[in-house]
Amino acid sequence: MKTVADFEPVLLANIGKPDSWTRRGYEAYGGYEAVRKVIGKLAPKDVAETVKSSGLRGRGGAGFPTGLKWTFLPPNHPGPIYFCLNADESEPGTFNNRVLMELDPHQVLEGMMISCYATNCKTAYYYMRCEYPLAYKRTLAAIQECYDAGYLGKNIFGTDYSLDIHLHRGAGAYICGEETGLIESLEGKRAWPRIKPPFPAVEGAFRKPTVVNNVETAACVKQIFDRGVEWFKSIGVPPDPNNPRDAGSYGPKLYCLSGHINKPGCYEAPLGITVTELIDRYGGGIWKGRKAKACIPGGISMGILKADEFHCPLDFNGPGKFGCLGLGTAAVVVMDETVQMVDYLMNSARFFSHESCGQCTPCREGTSWATRLLTRIKAGKGRLKDLDLLAEIGDTIGIMPGTTICGLADGAAWPLKNTLKKYRGELEEYIKKTNPDGWAETKPVPA
Ligand code: NAI
Ligand code: SF4
Repeated sequence: MKTVADFEPVLLANIGKPDSWTRRGYEAYGGYEAVRKVIGKLAPKDVAETVKSSGLRGRGGAGFPTGLKWTFLPPNHPGPIYFCLNADESEPGTFNNRVLMELDPHQVLEGMMISCYATNCKTAYYYMRCEYPLAYKRTLAAIQECYDAGYLGKNIFGTDYSLDIHLHRGAGAYICGEETGLIESLEGKRAWPRIKPPFPAVEGAFRKPTVVNNVETAACVKQIFDRGVEWFKSIGVPPDPNNPRDAGSYGPKLYCLSGHINKPGCYEAPLGITVTELIDRYGGGIWKGRKAKACIPGGISMGILKADEFHCPLDFNGPGKFGCLGLGTAAVVVMDETVQMVDYLMNSARFFSHESCGQCTPCREGTSWATRLLTRIKAGKGRLKDLDLLAEIGDTIGIMPGTTICGLADGAAWPLKNTLKKYRGELEEYIKKTNPDGWAETKPVPA
């Protein structure tokens, strides 16, 4: 396995080179060679099999095996089968897709072409959040360049395979990144997530079988056909021999590093790098010479790691071993010693309350109630009992199976529960200090 020291970036290899976002620039750096080896040369099922054998897991947050997801499409379906590229990147702290779309949009398109060919899709939708104007402009231009060159449209690359890609802009809602919310929005409706099953692979866009993949996942598909399965599997972490259900964490990963560090940015590293290595090697250490207090390992939904847990490996299993929900989007937000956990919790609760689509009562009411409780605690009117109430809300909205339609509720509940567990003492101290006369109050107080 490659170590962090001998790892060469590939997903970001073109970033910083002249004209990296144009077709001419991209092809000068070896672009569109992988797709030429695939379309019309390999059978679609063999392409899908190669991706499956690479162990590639989706980079959007859930880490679901990509090739396996493709096999859920109904076999011998007469079509149409749709492909949706999820570029509605909205998880706080996450901007890896943005970097690819702004600076290397053809890499994403090439991965999309291979993925569409493998899944027998002839119409693809590229769903991009509206807050990325440069990414939109460059992707739109890149798609046009591909049509002009015969890389999109009828009989692409001179083969009998045809593919159209439609670029669709969201209107700025976190829930549009949930795959069925995205599909509803694409269909021109309010982005209300659908109850699953049926999963999109069976019934997705326009009620037809649909694959939804993330931008970085598409870029990884391109790299697998450029460099091979063996190369991909030489990076990352193999499956845990003691866990027969573990699929391993193979390949390179884009980590978004932000918060209280000297060099925030998007960095490519092997899956399994530790938080400490990421901060020290890439982020230049904690800013202003301060000490780290905690970090969010993979987007705000995942929970929190304390500074003494920074040896946590950032692979698909690592953060789970430290009480977090998972790797998520691999967006690491670092907090230094000056941060108060009440502020982090209040910001997180307010975000989820604002973004809840409101269909499910536990999510709609729970996120709003948690926000009101935390606002009161922050304002110096908190009671110790409020912490138990917050834990109860966390249990109710996110953990009881079947109470909500999509994962937003889990994402809202986890930071609450995880932080209450790891920082209960600090939160109690805050309440006692800011509300010396009322902290023990047990009578109901209007929220
Ligand atoms: P999920 O685990 O429900 O599904 C993952 C994927 O596997 C989906 O495409 C789903 O259709 C497919 N799948 C799962 N079981 C299946 C089955 N039995 N048959 C067919 N297909 C199946 O997770 P979800 O809700 O799609 O994603 C949650 C993650 O999204 C969170 O972990 C979070 O990190 C991430 N997220 C990322 C954001 C971003 O900005 N990139 C924003 C918000 C959340
Ligand atoms: Fe909407 Fe929340 Fe229900 Fe998801 S869990 S569908 S965001 S109300």
